[in-house]
Amino acid sequence: MASSTLPSLPHVPGTDPSSCILDCFRTAIAKRVSDALPPLTLDQAYTGVDYGKKGMDFTVALPRFRLPGKPDELAAKVLSNCSSPTISSHPFTHDKQFLHFQLNSASLIREVLNQIHALTYESPTGKPSYGTNTSGAGKKVVIEFSSPNIAKSFHVGHLRSTIIGAFLVNLYKTCGWDVTSLNYLGDWGTQFGMIAVGFEKYGSQEELQKDAIKHLYDVYVKVSRDAESDPNVKVEAAQFFKRMEDGDESALVNWRVWRELSVKKYIEEYDRLNVSFDRYTGESEVGKEWQDKALEQLDQQGLITDVNGAKLVDLEKWKMGKAVLRKADGTSIYLTRDIAGAIERYEKYHFDKMIYVVASQQDLHLAQFFKILSLMGFPWADRLEHVNYGLVLGMSTRKGTAVFLNQIIKEASSVMHEQMRRNEDKYNAIEDPEMVSQEVGITGIKIQDMAAKRINNYTFNWDRMLSFEGDTGPYLQYAHVRLTSMERKNPELLPLPPPSQIDTSSLADSTHARDIAILLGSYPDVVKTAMKTHEPSGVVTFALRLSHAISSAWEMLVVKGEKDLDKARARLWLYLCARDVLGAAMRLLSIRPLERM
Ligand code: ARG
Repeated sequence: MASSTLPSLPHVPGTDPSSCILDCFRTAIAKRVSDALPPLTLDQAYTGVDYGKKGMDFTVALPRFRLPGKPDELAAKVLSNCSSPTISSHPFTHDKQFLHFQLNSASLIREVLNQIHALTYESPTGKPSYGTNTSGAGKKVVIEFSSPNIAKSFHVGHLRSTIIGAFLVNLYKTCGWDVTSLNYLGDWGTQFGMIAVGFEKYGSQEELQKDAIKHLYDVYVKVSRDAESDPNVKVEAAQFFKRMEDGDESALVNWRVWRELSVKKYIEEYDRLNVSFDRYTGESEVGKEWQDKALEQLDQQGLITDVNGAKLVDLEKWKMGKAVLRKADGTSIYLTRDIAGAIERYEKYHFDKMIYVVASQQDLHLAQFFKILSLMGFPWADRLEHVNYGLVLGMSTRKGTAVFLNQIIKEASSVMHEQMRRNEDKYNAIEDPEMVSQEVGITGIKIQDMAAKRINNYTFNWDRMLSFEGDTGPYLQYAHVRLTSMERKNPELLPLPPPSQIDTSSLADSTHARDIAILLGSYPDVVKTAMKTHEPSGVVTFALRLSHAISSAWEMLVVKGEKDLDKARARLWLYLCARDVLGAAMRLLSIRPLERM
């Protein structure tokens, strides 16, 4: 069995056949087209090779090249050019201005599986690397995400930021970037004055130790209620916060404990979501120096107006309104902290890019501080990027509105647990149903969250997201578990011989095998596209399509019971490659693929 069925081809910049075999097929098609249609260059032709329509693998739209001549005649020229190397044994077709190419199935399947195998089990990096690339090598990105507010609720908006942010961290790492992940806690501001006042009345050390996040929230709710009837509460709170801002140690001792205990709790909960941060920073860490300097500099630039002692920056010229940079009592503000925080981060990390994963409700806020930094003349201001997302509607547990992350996770686990109990035989075979239901439940939440474009709002729906049917998280986990079971169920075929000794020719006749192979081959493209769009939805769609392709193949491409061992081995190899790629896609989405359920 020849190890490569491909002709040797010239290199097109930006492609890398050693990590993406479809680049090679596309180059062959581009060469054929450009050879037939001078003065079209290979690189130009390459940009015209798109994924195919109408069941074809690739399609070239001829008019985009703006060549003289009728599309029909141009197509005929390409069709009659037989001198170029080809991997398309079926004569390709054209309809009107489109040229369609269908790859030779045997070659496609062979090459895709070879590449996955090589990059998974003989990877130059020692780690499975199929789907990774080195486009970000030597570059630094800071990704800030999740960023909940201590003592306030961790709402679904923060959950979305967490899920999308974790995906981006994985994605940038997959593309070779040096990534620093930050959680920018809302750990500063007048609400801490409120809690300080409230804690004297409602605080309990015991409750605090048990669950700081919840207890501080409870105190905050109670003291806010008091404030409604007693205006003194707010005054006292503001005075207390002023002392904190002035660095009064006696005003900071408690706050420090609250923060530390909350972070400890967060770390546990994020861990259940398979999420972690390189650093927990927060609004409290932003220094005064740059906040003052920013105000001064903007003042010199004539952008500041004073309104009763408060300082406002005027961004009307850019249709971004007016924004307060400093309150009349001199205390700092969210916006000012973001300005100074970005400057400090640049000094610390010298990033090539910094991403903020924040809800679209804060579009204006982000636009304002990006603009201010650029007005201040920081050359790196254009390296900041806001990755936004829409609202989650109707999120509640069966007992009411969920406000804490642990409630959301608990609810997902218990709904999933009930779901699993319905199939008693299966349920009894599961070793650790608690763990499995939690993992599958979390997968359900994540897939629902990432299934559509970020900017869309969506409605939280437990039944839909936790069903085993349809495009759901449980469906993906199930597909992975089934693929994983192949090895366990076919010990007589293992270990598989090296790829060069597996005869894959029998797979070429199966449209199922072909569908799976081309999907597997497209995975590196899926990763590259996600890098451009910062959308997890493309990866979700990929994983679901792959799972569907596999489930339609099950009955036709059987392994267990296939008498022809060569056939059985080839099929098993295909399934194991599918398992590896599906697992990689799930991990990219921050999901832990299960081996049994
Ligand atoms: N803590 C903020 C909130 O919950 C989100 C912080 C977003 N990040 C930032 N750099 N402003 O609304």
